[in-house]
Amino acid sequence: MIRIALIPGDGIGPEVVHEAERVLSACVSVGLADLQLESFPHGADHYLSTGETLSDQTFSRIRDEFDAVLLGAVGDARVPDGRHARDILLGLRFRLDLFVNYRPARLRLAELSPLRAADETPIDFVIFRENTEGLYTGAGRVDSEGTADERAVSEAIATRTGVERIVRAAFEHARISGKERVTLGDKANAVPHVYGLWRRVFEEVAREYADIESEMRYVDALAMQLVREPGRFDVIVTSNLLGDILSDLAAELIGGMGLAPSANLNPGLHALYEPVHGSAPDMVGTGTANPMAAILSAALLLRNGGFGEAAARIDAAVDAALRAGIRTPDVRGGSTTSEVGTWIAQRIQE
Ligand code: IPM
Ligand code: MN
Repeated sequence: MIRIALIPGDGIGPEVVHEAERVLSACVSVGLADLQLESFPHGADHYLSTGETLSDQTFSRIRDEFDAVLLGAVGDARVPDGRHARDILLGLRFRLDLFVNYRPARLRLAELSPLRAADETPIDFVIFRENTEGLYTGAGRVDSEGTADERAVSEAIATRTGVERIVRAAFEHARISGKERVTLGDKANAVPHVYGLWRRVFEEVAREYADIESEMRYVDALAMQLVREPGRFDVIVTSNLLGDILSDLAAELIGGMGLAPSANLNPGLHALYEPVHGSAPDMVGTGTANPMAAILSAALLLRNGGFGEAAARIDAAVDAALRAGIRTPDVRGGSTTSEVGTWIAQRIQE
């Protein structure tokens, strides 16, 4: 049994998580999964009415009483500094030490790629984004704020331990899933301290995986090559901010943010699953939000939680929905959020 904490969050988060929940329930009803779900109200509304972003008490419950979190999205214009989003999403990533941000990108339907030659080589790669260090730790300061001498510093942190564990996770994944190549995305030519460490560690770890090809790319050139030749990539490992940027690019290559799931992992200990997309406030209530990224995130959850058959069924049902034209407008369809969720849930029960 997997105990899942649902945090629908803000904007379209609740709409897409609702569909993911239906799909999870469908898996339970056909005996493919054994789940216990509990919803948490945390998000902008909850913060604005109670002042609580994510209390220590809630955090402890999530840490101790659940196997996984499924999060919709956090972000709301009424909280301009995004404080609650940082506390909830980055807070869970850091406090649960979810050092792997696993972001797969597979082109499911060739016509959805903006690339001309997309149908020639299948696009199917995954980004291993370091998730607990880099420029995301909040380390830094602002001196002389508001004066002409104002100076802001954000420190990028890379530790040998932190880099090594994500690089190793990437190589390990490549080996287990029969992938040929691991690519490091860095910026060692301009940011020597942090990315010098990344390169040294990457080369050391790569030597232990002689069966897997390894290569290092400056991130700007990598971005270019991802557009030109996306099919050549298998596993990309990179730092927190670079991974954030590359994963939006990757999502767009396979049909957009509506199709991009992710898993934030401390393997064997804690996990948080979320669509890569944000809260998209302008789409709320229009029925146009694509629930597939949330549904595919739920599939990753099931797969990692030991319900591989359920995960495979969801995956196949999403592919079938895309082929059958059961799609929201972002993927050139005319279906609503709930029509897509209903169709996929039904397909699983067939
Ligand atoms: C993501 C998001 C977050 C990030 C934001 C909401 C802080 O863009 O999960 O990719 O930058 O990690
Ligand atoms: Mn992002």
